[in-house]
Amino acid sequence: MTTPCDSPANIRAADETAVREAARLLRAGALVAFPTETVYGLGADATNAEAVAAIFAAKGRPSFNPLISHLADAAQAERLARLATPARRLAAAFWPGALTLVLPRRPDCAIAEIASAGLDTVALRVPAHPVAQALLAATDRPVAAPSANRSGRISPTTAEAVADELGDDVALILDGGACPVGLESTVIGFAGDRPVLLRPGGIATEEIEAVAGPLLAPKATADRPSSPGQLESHYAPGKPLRRNARRARRGEVLLGFGPEVPGDIPLSPSGDLTEAAANLFRLLRLADRGVAEAIAVAPIPNHGLGLAINDRLKRAAAANRTTTGSAR
Ligand code: TXA
Ligand code: MG
Repeated sequence: MTTPCDSPANIRAADETAVREAARLLRAGALVAFPTETVYGLGADATNAEAVAAIFAAKGRPSFNPLISHLADAAQAERLARLATPARRLAAAFWPGALTLVLPRRPDCAIAEIASAGLDTVALRVPAHPVAQALLAATDRPVAAPSANRSGRISPTTAEAVADELGDDVALILDGGACPVGLESTVIGFAGDRPVLLRPGGIATEEIEAVAGPLLAPKATADRPSSPGQLESHYAPGKPLRRNARRARRGEVLLGFGPEVPGDIPLSPSGDLTEAAANLFRLLRLADRGVAEAIAVAPIPNHGLGLAINDRLKRAAAANRTTTGSAR
C-alpha cells in the first residue's frame, strides 16, 4: 500500500489548485503527467517544440515516433487539421473518448512539427476524463502526450506507475486514480475517405465500423511502420511472456481470464473483456515485479476489446522472444 508519506513528492491529487498549477507548468514548457480515461499521458504544450522534445528525452523514445495531441473539444481539431466526412462522423460519435484520428495538418497548424515526427499528419484526440478535460480547458493549448512510460514499456494506469517509470523527469503528476479503460486509444488514419486501423485500442473496431464502414488494414513496411506504435516489440515487461497458456509452467506466474483459467492473478474472474482491459497493464506490472521468472497469460477471445488486449500481449511476447528460446 502507498501512504501519503511514501508517495513521491511530485504526485498531487488532481484538485482544482493542482490542475491550475499543472496548466501553468505546461504553458511554461514543463512536462506534466495526467490521467485520461485510457492511460496516463506525459504532457507538454504541443505548440512548443522544445517542450515536446523534452517528452522524447524523458521517454527515451525513437525520434520517428509521432505523438497524439489532446484537445479540449472537436472544434479545435477543425482549426488544426482537415477532417473529411468519415473523420467528422467518427469525431461526432466518439469524442470525447478513446479514439485518436490521424489527419492531414492544415498549413497553419499550430502543433509543433516535432510532434508529427516529420509526417504531414497530426494525431488528435479529445479525452473524456474529467481531470484531462479540466487540464486542457485551463491550459487552453493542445497538449501532446504519449503514454507516460519509458519507450517500449507498459503504459501506466495509475499515478504511482507513472512515478515508477519517470520519477523526477516530470514536474508534476496529477493523480486522478486508476484509468477506467486501461488500454490506449484506438488510432484511425485515412486512405482517401476510407478509415484505416492503425492501432486497436479502447474503442472496439466493431463500434468504429458501425459508424465509418469497414476498416482497412495499414500498409506498412518493417523500417517505416505507418503507425510506429505498431513496432513489434512494444509494451515490454522485463520478463518473458507466453500467451494462450492454460496452466503455469515452472517459474511462471499465470494471468488468468474467465472461470476456466482463473490463474494466479485474474485479469477478469468472470471473463469480461472490459474488466480485463482495465486491469491489463496494472497486473502485467504486478507480475513483472513479483518473484516469478516468467509471465504466462490465459487465452483471450479475439473480439471486441480482446483484439486490442491480444495486440498488446503479442508485442509484450515479441519483446522477449530472443531470451525465451521456445517462443520463436
Ligand atoms: O490512449 C492513448 O492514446 C494515450 C493517452 C495518453 O492519450 N496516448 C498514447 O500515445 O498511447 P502514444 O504516443 O504512446 O501512442 C500514439 C500512437 C502511436 O502508435 C503513434 O505511432 C501513433 O499514435 N501516431 C501518432 N501520430 C501519428 C501520425 N501522424 N501518423 C500515424 N500514427 C501516429
Ligand atoms: Mg505508448
